Amino acid sequence: MSEKTIAFIGAGNMAEALIRGLIAAKTGHIIATDVRPDRLEQLRKAYGVETSTDNAVAAAKVDIIVLAVKPQQMSAVLAGLKSVVGRVTSRGETDGSHAASGDAAYKKSSPLILSIAAGVTTSRIERELGGEPRVVRTMPNTPALVGASAAAICKGRFATDADLDTAETILKAVGIVVRTDEQHLDAVTALSGSGPAYIFYMAEAMIAAGIEAGLPAEVAKRLAVQTVFGAGALLAASGESPEELRKKVTSPGGTTEAALKVKIERGFAKIVADAMHAAARRSRELSGG
Ligand SMILES: NC(=O)c1ccc[n+]([C@@H]2O[C@H](COP(=O)([O-])OP(=O)(O)OC[C@H]3O[C@@H](n4cnc5c(N)ncnc54)[C@H](OP(=O)(O)O)[C@@H]3O)[C@@H](O)[C@H]2O)c1
Repeated sequence: MSEKTIAFIGAGNMAEALIRGLIAAKTGHIIATDVRPDRLEQLRKAYGVETSTDNAVAAAKVDIIVLAVKPQQMSAVLAGLKSVVGRVTSRGETDGSHAASGDAAYKKSSPLILSIAAGVTTSRIERELGGEPRVVRTMPNTPALVGASAAAICKGRFATDADLDTAETILKAVGIVVRTDEQHLDAVTALSGSGPAYIFYMAEAMIAAGIEAGLPAEVAKRLAVQTVFGAGALLAASGESPEELRKKVTSPGGTTEAALKVKIERGFAKIVADAMHAAARRSRELSGG
């Protein structure tokens, strides 16, 4: 993996998180592309990566193309990459038209396409690129920015298990990775994709309630942030289930029990489930399903 070349098409927040993780893990040679030269200059200075404003030229040079633009920018990007990857089959064969036309962007072996765009299906990418592109789709989340992402990956029709291994190596640079079928990606989006916002919203509510109870705003904020961080770290490190850890801190007749009783009576678990169903429904709508 370390000798592979990777092009990031779109050098925004998620691309930067992955680039930072890959550089730290000394994995692969990286080229970043973007429509904004100032953004590329930033990344070049910060990470020493190669940069280009030409997606097709960058894509033609690499083993792995990471699609890291917004979903609404995807069709334009795929149209621009078609000449590079679209006519190359998963076995690295071509229909001959590029060789015949002497297309400078033509590349003999087929690059792996890794898409991080929410709601863009592998079949849509395959269709818009044409040919038999090897596509792996992932749903990471924003804690990737601090190396703590939870990502699910799934493969399209022409990708192989080795392609999943490659995608997993890239995404492991910024967190954990699970493998799933694409049919579960809406549920993944509802759980871990949108999940950080659920926790942020809870932190907001805890801060507001702390202030209402008389704490200075800064004190409420620091305590809430560290409580969310500490609870997450304990949950991840202890190997115990959330239920076990909850029971450990809930003494009969104590303060935590009084708080949880209100949550249970008011249907907290049902609110979380309804919210996640709404997110999964929206994810299906956005991906045209
Ligand atoms: N952020 C999340 O929580 C999260 C989680 C999971 C997945 N994702 C997915 O990750 C992807 C990237 O998200 P992000 O937050 O990193 O977005 P972002 O910060 O907007 O990054 C996208 C970058 O691509 C540039 N761009 C636009 N058109 C381009 C083109 N034709 N060629 C090359 N670059 C182009 C954009 O420039 P302009 O700003 O000028 O358009 C921007 O710099 C999205 O598809 C999103 O669904 C995000």
